[in-house]
Amino acid sequence: MTIDIEAARAVLAANDRGGYTVPTARLYPFQWNWDSAFVAMGWASFDAARAWREVERLLEGQWQDGRIPHIVFHAPADTYFPGPDVWGTHHTPPTSGIVQPPVLATAVRAVFAADPDRARADARAAAIVPALLRSHRWWHAARDPQATGLVAILHPWESGMDNSPAWDTALARVPTTTATKIVRRDTGHVDPAMRPRAEDYQRFIHLVDTYRGAGWEAARMYAAAPFRVADVATNAILLRAERDLLSLAERFAAAACGAIGARIARMEQALAALWSDARGLFLSRDLVAGAALDVATSAGFLPVWAGVGDASRLAATLGRWLTRARFAVPSTDPAEPGFEPLRYWRGPVWAVVNWMLAEGFATAGEAASAHRIRNDTRALIGGAGFAEYFDPLTGEGAGGGSFSWTAAIGLLLSDAAVAD
Ligand code: GLC
Repeated sequence: MTIDIEAARAVLAANDRGGYTVPTARLYPFQWNWDSAFVAMGWASFDAARAWREVERLLEGQWQDGRIPHIVFHAPADTYFPGPDVWGTHHTPPTSGIVQPPVLATAVRAVFAADPDRARADARAAAIVPALLRSHRWWHAARDPQATGLVAILHPWESGMDNSPAWDTALARVPTTTATKIVRRDTGHVDPAMRPRAEDYQRFIHLVDTYRGAGWEAARMYAAAPFRVADVATNAILLRAERDLLSLAERFAAAACGAIGARIARMEQALAALWSDARGLFLSRDLVAGAALDVATSAGFLPVWAGVGDASRLAATLGRWLTRARFAVPSTDPAEPGFEPLRYWRGPVWAVVNWMLAEGFATAGEAASAHRIRNDTRALIGGAGFAEYFDPLTGEGAGGGSFSWTAAIGLLLSDAAVAD
C-alpha cells in the first residue's frame, strides 16, 4: 500500500494557520507541542523553511522558566475546551501551563539535517538551540528535583496519551470535583465512544484547577500534585531528545555538552530500571504510591527509541501482542482487560508512536519488527487516510480526520530514505 504524498502535503497545507499547523480543524484549533515536533519533520521533507517556522512559532509559547507548554493559543477559537480562560496562565501569547513529551530537540536535529540550505540551517539552529537547552534544564529541575534520573508528569495530558489504562489507578486518586464548569466540545466533533469518559474529564479538569491554584509555579505544582507519575514514554522521549540535543550542542553550544552527557548517563540507568521481566516490556511508575503501574501499553516499548533495553525481548513481546491484533502497534496490549480498540489511547494505533518504535527497532538491529511496524502504518494510512488513530483489529480510521501528525508520519514513511 502506498501513501499519497500529495494528499499528505495537502493536509499540512490545509491545517497551516500561518507558520504553525493545527492538529486538525475544529477538534484541536491551536498549536500542540509534540504534534508540532512531528509536523516540523513532515514539513522538512518538502519545505525546510516552513519546518523552521513551525518550531519557532511553538517557541513563542516558551516560558521564562524554560517550559514549553502543551498548547499555544495563537488565535481565539471556541471549538475547544479548556481554553485560555480556564488555564489562566497570563502568558503572551496565551498558553496552557502543563507540558507534553519533549520530541522537539529530536525534530530540530532532523530539520537541521534535512535542510538543503546549509547557511539557513546553521543560522536557524543556532538561534533555537539555547531554547532547547533551557527546556531540557527545566524538565530536570522542575520534574526531577531529587535527580533520580526520571522526570515526573503531573497530568495525564502531559504524557500525550491522555486516557491510557496505565493511568487508571493513579488517576482514581484524583477527585472528580471541579471549580471550573466543564463544557466539553470534543464530543460534538467525534463519537463519544472514541473519546475519554466524563469521569476522566472531571479528573483532568480537577488537576488543571489544582495547578492554576498553585500559580503554575513548578515547585508548587510538584508539591500539590495528586497525580505524579514517571511515564516511561516521556522519559524515553526525553532521553532520546537529550542525545539529539547533545549532537546539536557539539556544533552550537559546546559548553553545554558536559551537563547533557551527565543527564544522559543518569537517565539511561533509571530508565533501564523500569523493565518488567514478567511483562517483557517497560512499565511507568506511580511516584505517589511508589509502585509500578502494571499495565502493558505501547509506551512500554519506547525505551528502544532511546537506545535502552533488550530490543529482542521487546520484539518478542510485540510478536505476542500481534497474535491478537491485525495491525501494529496497539496502544494497549490486546490481552489487557482495559483494551478498547476504538477508544483513543486504550487500544487504537497511533502513527507517531509507530514511527518512533520502528526507528528504534531498526537502529537496534530488529529489522523485522521495524519492517512490520512501517508496513502496517503504511497500510493503515493507505487504507483509511490520515485519521487521528486506527482500530488495530479492523484498520478502520477513527477520531478526527485530516490529521496533521498522521500526514507528517506518512511523509516520513514514504521517504525514499526509509529502506524497506
Ligand atoms: C490529544 C492527544 C495528544 C495530542 C492532541 C492533539 O490530546 O492525546 O497526544 O497531542 O490530542 O493532537
